[in-house]
Amino acid sequence: MTAPPERRQGFGMAAPGRPAPQQDGRAEEAGGRSADPAGQRFAQGQGQGSRSAEPEQDSSAERQIDLLPEDATVNLAAERKAAGIDELLDALDRELVGLAPIKLRIQEIAALLLVDQVRERFGLAATRPSLHMCFTGAPGTGKTTVAMRMAELLHRVGYLERGHLVAVTRDDLVGQYVGHTAPKTKEVLKRAMGGVLFIDEAYYLYRADNERDYGQESIEILLQVMENQRDKIVVVLAGYKDRMDEFFASNPGMSSRIAHHLDFPEYSLDELADIAQLMLSEVRYRLSEDAEATLREYLSRRMQQPRFANARSVRNALERARLRHANRLLSEPDRAWNRDDLMRLESADLLASRVFSEPTSESPAS
Ligand SMILES: Nc1ncnc2c1ncn2[C@@H]1O[C@H](COP(=O)(O)OP(=O)(O)O)[C@@H](O)[C@H]1O
Ligand SMILES: [Mg+2]
Repeated sequence: MTAPPERRQGFGMAAPGRPAPQQDGRAEEAGGRSADPAGQRFAQGQGQGSRSAEPEQDSSAERQIDLLPEDATVNLAAERKAAGIDELLDALDRELVGLAPIKLRIQEIAALLLVDQVRERFGLAATRPSLHMCFTGAPGTGKTTVAMRMAELLHRVGYLERGHLVAVTRDDLVGQYVGHTAPKTKEVLKRAMGGVLFIDEAYYLYRADNERDYGQESIEILLQVMENQRDKIVVVLAGYKDRMDEFFASNPGMSSRIAHHLDFPEYSLDELADIAQLMLSEVRYRLSEDAEATLREYLSRRMQQPRFANARSVRNALERARLRHANRLLSEPDRAWNRDDLMRLESADLLASRVFSEPTSESPAS
């Protein structure tokens, strides 16, 4: 029934209800540089990833956990609830349209980590699975958004200490001159410790045509940390699928350290329309009936045009529609606009877009 007083060190879960630090997906500026030279400890990869090796250094990640007696039972639904996992998975389901296979994989990972955590309370080995991931897909398919949710989930199940996301590209990791790359990469790793390091278009780190490219140095440091400190940081490599496949073909070391490959499909027209509705309701706008049809027409045209970026294009289109809506209302400033007028986007707010005047790729180019 109640746990015996026996205690041991473990990676207990984060306190339920404790909000994970929120961060947006954009790369942080280098301004956050810390004077602490501890970044150097990532360099050598001397087995610092092992929790038991350095209990004091890890003290904030660990807490005393009560061991359960051998004949105890647990209710996983209650455990899931207590860790705030249900809440997070429900929000993921509600706030992201489509992405069924991605959501399923996240549930599976959550289940594994939860069971690991309960096993640990029975004194069973709870070796941490490697969770480095690769997210492939076109721009605007939700990779960064899902990575942020993943970071928070990993925090809630006690896998990551902080659960923040640091998003970077090659330029944040690789220097221009000899000797610059290692400090840059280590600085980024230091910022990302305890959270997720999201490397967008990760294949730019490798240049097949140049063996001495500094990107290689960055890859090697990343590999060491991914191996030796995999209980402290999760690395997510993101980018287009075909280019990522090529990257892995030339970098088998990187490939072998990736535990999960998630492919983000392009959204269908229906999904894009649903995404628009969701985005609008979040900011308390709505579409008139006509505007709904116009938006679908807008989207089907926009999908054919260059630089279409899935959900990001939807977001941008809606922001411009809000701009036109505001100006439409202000064009008759003395008219009595009501609450619904302030919420309702009309066809006209969308029709003014260039998308309706520019040719699609199917139309003959001039
Ligand atoms: N399935 C979805 N449902 C709702 N909004 C989405 C969805 N996928 C992406 N978005 C939104 O679209 C924008 C771009 O998504 P993002 O995660 O940055 O894409 P990527 O990293 O793949 O380029 C973000 O504002 C995000 O909130
Ligand atoms: Mg992104």
